[in-house]
Amino acid sequence: MDLRAAALTLLLGAALPGGAVAQQAPAADAAARVELGRRTYTGTCARCHGLNLVTSGIGFDLRTFPQNDRERFERSVTQGLRAMPALGGALTPEQLDALWAYIGAVNGWKP
Ligand code: HEC
Repeated sequence: MDLRAAALTLLLGAALPGGAVAQQAPAADAAARVELGRRTYTGTCARCHGLNLVTSGIGFDLRTFPQNDRERFERSVTQGLRAMPALGGALTPEQLDALWAYIGAVNGWKP
C-alpha cells in the first residue's frame, strides 16, 4: 500500500461510524484502484481527454459519461469508436476496471 492509500484509509476509517477495523481493507482497495486508474488515465487517455477529465475539446467529455452505462464504456474503450482508438490490447482487465473507478471518483459518483 502506498502512503496516499494508507492516509486515505486512516481518513475513511476515522470517518466511518465506529471506525471499524474491518472497514479499512475495502477502503484501501478502493483507493488503490482509483490510483491505478489515475496513472493509467494520465498515461493513456489524458492526451486526448485532458488532465483530470477536463477536456481540451478533443474527443468526449468524460465528466458527462453516464454512470449507469459501464458496458458502453468498456466497449468503446476496448473496441474504439470513430476517432477513439481501440485500446483493448493496451489495457489489462485490472486497468480497465481501475479507469472506471477513477472516472467515478473524479465525477463524484455515488455507489
Ligand atoms: C487518440 C485520442 C484518444 C485517446 C488516446 C483516447 N480517446 Fe477516448 N475518445 C476519443 C475521441 C475522439 C472520442 C469521441 C468518439 C466519437 O464519439 O466520435 C472518444 C470517446 C471516448 C468515450 C465515449 C465513447 C462513447 O461510448 O460515447 C470514452 C468512454 C472514452 N473515449 C474513454 C477513453 C479512455 C478511458 C481512454 C484511455 C484508456 C481513451 N478514451 C483514450 C479520443 C481518444
